[in-house]
Amino acid sequence: MEDLNRETVQLIKQKMEEGLFPQWIVTDPEIYKLEIKKLFSRTWHFLGHESELKEPGDYVTRWIVHDPVLMVRSTDGKIKAFLNSCTHRGVRLCTADCGNKKTFTCPYHGWTFNLDGELIGITLGNKVYGEKMKKEEWGLKPIPRVESYRGLIFANLDPNAMPLKEYLAEMTWYLDILLGRTDKGMEVVGEPQRWVASGNWKITYENFTGDPYHVMTTHRSTIEVGITPDHSHEPERLAHQVVMSHGHGISVGTYKEKPSRPYQRTPKEMWPLFERNLSPEQNELLSRAFVFTGGIFPTFSFVSPMHGIEGELYNYLNFRVWRPLAPDKVEIWSWFLMDKEAPEDYKQKAYKGYIASFGPSGTLEQDDTVNWARIVEASKGYMVIDKTLSYNNLNNYLMGWDKVEPDDNFPGPGIAYAGFVDAVSSNIHKCWFELVFEDWLNA
Ligand code: FES
Ligand code: FE
Repeated sequence: MEDLNRETVQLIKQKMEEGLFPQWIVTDPEIYKLEIKKLFSRTWHFLGHESELKEPGDYVTRWIVHDPVLMVRSTDGKIKAFLNSCTHRGVRLCTADCGNKKTFTCPYHGWTFNLDGELIGITLGNKVYGEKMKKEEWGLKPIPRVESYRGLIFANLDPNAMPLKEYLAEMTWYLDILLGRTDKGMEVVGEPQRWVASGNWKITYENFTGDPYHVMTTHRSTIEVGITPDHSHEPERLAHQVVMSHGHGISVGTYKEKPSRPYQRTPKEMWPLFERNLSPEQNELLSRAFVFTGGIFPTFSFVSPMHGIEGELYNYLNFRVWRPLAPDKVEIWSWFLMDKEAPEDYKQKAYKGYIASFGPSGTLEQDDTVNWARIVEASKGYMVIDKTLSYNNLNNYLMGWDKVEPDDNFPGPGIAYAGFVDAVSSNIHKCWFELVFEDWLNA
């Protein structure tokens, strides 16, 4: 086997330009190291939603891949994020998932930090360190950039990264529909659930962002048992996949005509809120939609579907973080969100719909997880890890390749294609390649 060298990288590029993707890349340890160094260190990562930190002192512990993060609402009401590592010997400072505190004390030697990350207490203080040690130099290390959009808090380890809003680019138009459709917006209900699965983050991200093609096979049984909508009695359907800047993308499933129960079957009293808060184009799209599934590169995905219990379907918003643990392992984080103004009874039923579908034991979740694990299982053998591609170990991203033209009638920004295409997935690969290899190739 050859090592990763310039020739190998050129070959990757060449194959991607032909609509193909070498399978060895998915779980290769060397690639994973490069992703940590070049990609995750420069992209925006979802930390949480502002509704999770309501009061001063509220905190959550999160991760930016392998960097532990402590995010707090400080006494001045601002949200701040620090490396969750004590500055004395590096102990992970706070291990609780969430809570409310005035200070954080390290369990090892007792150093104490306030909500602004300042070191305010040292065990035995000046007696052991003398007057010279300046406490202000030993505060928690702030995460270089923390910004939010529509309540979504993202962080970036690169102090020179472009602003979040610029990074989100076309996606803001769709986030406005999902999160800004009501006067009071969305809130997280409960705490995020999380579990570890066998899989690679590129595959899980692609699954939500650019692969509606899998739904009819992988999730067919959920229609048969009534968890997922059976559209056969509804008007004609349309599916659009939208390519966006920086590796983001969305799939929008709509009915061609306004269905008998528009706005994803939300309660009628909410419809005037949607009309009031959205532009005519956004409102029209939402009224005909049955599902939105998308992703903000590299590790954040979302889905706004309809899933049901007891023969009825409910709409909710689910956020995902695919936190890489290893080339072949992800920690999946999953948040349930609901419009604050939704009726209480609706919220509860929608939550049950979420648990049955995309919760850790949900049917759709299990459907997907097994496929991601099977990709890992089949990607470690000699024929797949051959970097010279002599066994033709290439994955196929040719759907719609050079055949499908963008649909200019789609109302949202980005390049929209009608039907199933691999354009969003190919765009993900292009952005991935640029971050991981471009400067290396140009060096
Ligand atoms: Fe935290 Fe020593 S490691 S006080
Ligand atoms: Fe799926």
